[in-house]
Amino acid sequence: MNPSELDNLTVTVNGVVFSHKDIHTVVATFYARVQKDPLLSVPFQSVHDWPDHIKRLTHFWWIKFGGKPYMFNQYNPVLKHFYAGFNAELLERWLSLFHGVLQEKLNEEQCRLWTLISQRMGYGLHMKNEMLKAHVQRLQEEQKESNN
Ligand code: HEM
Repeated sequence: MNPSELDNLTVTVNGVVFSHKDIHTVVATFYARVQKDPLLSVPFQSVHDWPDHIKRLTHFWWIKFGGKPYMFNQYNPVLKHFYAGFNAELLERWLSLFHGVLQEKLNEEQCRLWTLISQRMGYGLHMKNEMLKAHVQRLQEEQKESNN
């Protein structure tokens, strides 16, 4: 599907309509700001192809909102964020920057809903990341003990 065909597609979440263009505008604006942010730009140095990242993340939110997948992609956010050094401080910064973009680019009800969804996802990621961190630490300690 070409970009102009995608622009006009819409998806409805809890009665709130988003066009593909709305989602793409939010994602592209957000990551342009991430690249300039003193705190967030550091973990995002792992991203070498920004246009591709923006395409994949637009697709991620599109299918999260119930849109039909239009590209093949497997996402593994828990592991990727673990390696990116995800923590509470980075999450708060991520959410505050993201919510600023939602307020600027969307109408009130779209903004309210996506804010809520992103907060839930962020705290869900945080919980899973903490569990993974504890698990890795336990494994490292066991390894140390078995080497002694
Ligand atoms: C609500 C909060 C967040 C959501 C919903 C989110 C979502 C995602 C998703 C879906 C991906 C693609 C994962 C994949 O390709 O499997 C991704 C990639 C990434 N995220 Fe997040 N993210 C959030 C917060 C953060 C935070 C706080 C950081 C800071 C460490 C971060 C750093 C990254 C990086 C560096 C990548 C690229 C990984 C790579 O492809 O090398 N994200 N994010």
